[in-house]
Amino acid sequence: MNSELINAELNPAIVLLDYIRSLRLTGTKEGCKEGDCGACTVIIGEIDENNELNYKSVNSCLLPVQNVNGKHVVTIEGLNLNEKFLNPIQQAFVDEGASQCGFCTPGFIVSMTSYFLNGSNRNFSNPAYSMDGNICRCTGHNSIVRAAGKIVEKFQHGNGKDYSIRYLSDNKIVPEYFHDIKERLINLKKEFAASISENGKKLYFIGSGTDLFVQRPDEMLSSNGIFLGARNDMSSISIEKDECIIGASATVTDLLGSEVINNIFPTIGNFAELFGSTPIRNCATIGGNINNASPIGDMTSMFMALDSTIILESGSGSRKVPMNRYFKSYKTVDRKINEYMKAISFKIPSGNCFINFEKVSKRTYLDIASVNSAILLKVNDKTILDVNISAGGVAAVPLCLSETSAFLKGKEIHPQILKEASAIALTEISPISDARGSRQYKQLLLTRLFFAHF
Ligand code: FES
Ligand code: FES
Repeated sequence: MNSELINAELNPAIVLLDYIRSLRLTGTKEGCKEGDCGACTVIIGEIDENNELNYKSVNSCLLPVQNVNGKHVVTIEGLNLNEKFLNPIQQAFVDEGASQCGFCTPGFIVSMTSYFLNGSNRNFSNPAYSMDGNICRCTGHNSIVRAAGKIVEKFQHGNGKDYSIRYLSDNKIVPEYFHDIKERLINLKKEFAASISENGKKLYFIGSGTDLFVQRPDEMLSSNGIFLGARNDMSSISIEKDECIIGASATVTDLLGSEVINNIFPTIGNFAELFGSTPIRNCATIGGNINNASPIGDMTSMFMALDSTIILESGSGSRKVPMNRYFKSYKTVDRKINEYMKAISFKIPSGNCFINFEKVSKRTYLDIASVNSAILLKVNDKTILDVNISAGGVAAVPLCLSETSAFLKGKEIHPQILKEASAIALTEISPISDARGSRQYKQLLLTRLFFAHF
């Protein structure tokens, strides 16, 4: 933690925020405890398979402490060890009047620091995006956005991509002790062996817990949770023959940054902001999003359109289940009690293919979909050679619109054909009226999203 090595025996399901505050590091705040406000933001550094040190911002309120074993946890206290001087980011916030009550401010400063520490998450056109998971209730956000702009302007460096630890510590954005962290973590990694024991309690396989810690925090504490989000060996994204295989522990950020995925789906970056805030994307796993079994999971909708296969594993072997048969009923999947999802795979689309994702939610960003839909479309000129359409939020389970897809196969893309297809789509869904909209509204939304694909 910061510059200190911590040795502790803990319930692995305690969330990091609670542990940090028990150490009297109280700059990290509890606001919502739901991943919405960013008051609890910390930075996590870890060594990847190439022995490189990578940092990312996360919501500590939703992160089980087991997931930071062997990693560098940076809280606001660890960003400036000098109590007499503010660092440049803190100073910019003061200069721009970007802090009033101050409750949110540590989270903002930590997120802004991760802008410099994490090149892959950086949005050059708008540095404020590095704080997309932070909310301030006092200042209005303009002064904060101004402060972010000034800091980035002041530290224009090289091509803007390579902020080395040396550069950052020379400019007091991070303290000197950051220089030794990489070596310390590499040594820790050698020593580190995770031990998980079964003690007869109900066994949970948990991705990283970004949803479970919101929905069932007490149950998590007393469960015998196995946190697959901490399994680096299950987070790779690779190609084998004509298949793309994604480990269940890969995060949404891993997916968005993957060269393999960007080659297959070049426009995926356009949807990044629809998939939650930066700290949530940095933790939420593909396996977690799918096995949550929500009828409106964004990843679920995408992978359903790609006609994916779920790869399950247990002590006695592995098996594969086509994704369109994986969801049995509301929040129930075809996975036995001792099985966990190891990976998901799909055949790499070939030929003249398009993949698209559409989502409507009450708020444009950082919200659960009212209805979502994805499509994989293969065409020859205007003729549809193959198509697969998914729909979320319009039934008890995520749907594959198989009859609509079958109708479209071999047809020309023409307004009349699409109109007829959208009528078939309405016969395949059974939305209910709830907090996200009435039945009729969801029917209308699906029709609009269907047209938007084309
Ligand atoms: Fe609000 Fe963690 S306390 S995001
Ligand atoms: Fe008060 Fe942001 S300064 S909540």
